[in-house]
Amino acid sequence: MKKITIAIDGFSSTGKSTIAKLIAKSLGYIYVDSGAMYRAITFFAMQNNLISKDHFDKDKLIASLPQAQVSFKFNDSLGFAEVYLNNQNIENNIRTLEVSNLVSIVAAVPEVRAQLVKIQKEIGQDKAVVMDGRDIGTVVFPDAELKIFMTASAETRALRRYNELKNNGENITFEAVFENVQKRDHLDSTRADSPLIKAEDAIAIDNSNATIEEQYQNIIKLIDNII
Ligand code: C5P
Repeated sequence: MKKITIAIDGFSSTGKSTIAKLIAKSLGYIYVDSGAMYRAITFFAMQNNLISKDHFDKDKLIASLPQAQVSFKFNDSLGFAEVYLNNQNIENNIRTLEVSNLVSIVAAVPEVRAQLVKIQKEIGQDKAVVMDGRDIGTVVFPDAELKIFMTASAETRALRRYNELKNNGENITFEAVFENVQKRDHLDSTRADSPLIKAEDAIAIDNSNATIEEQYQNIIKLIDNII
């Protein structure tokens, strides 16, 4: 069976990672959550007081980037790779609303993107990878054999993220999450470097009303036609 590259892009909280993980597992492929890498750099910037809701020291962050090593290690019991910053597992630090509120500012910095895209390309050099993000089909793997562009209504997406954060014990309101989802979509789609856009050859899937099983079966059919 031929090995392929699968790029899944789309707006925040469209359920990209849930589907990407299932697809990767069923094919025996590597799954890479590229958003976790941008979150890791954001967490690094927060730890070093380079960003908060009131300030952003972009030049200092750029100068410190060599000190921010982002990597993944496979967690056997979870069945997917977790993100590490300088060899420290930071999976539990990067999904907070605080990180979500700052990540799109950090992700708009071209030097940050260049450092992370380089790692993403290296991880995917032997194919057999499912990567989700915002620019995977347009910038990271423009030659990917399968490109999916996931969408869902902003309300549906905010509700999903709200439930996820609540389950993680965060004390937040639906309104705050809704605002974050809309703000991030705007920043991600309008930035100058690698904005979130559908690649011309990507297949758009609106999953507002689809179950995870339906989405999974739909994508598996697309893959079967390629491999
Ligand atoms: O996928 P997730 O919501 O965790 O991504 C967090 C943020 O990281 C996005 O809102 C976006 O600003 C940035 N990102 C990006 N390019 C990617 C993946 C994520 O700019 N390939």
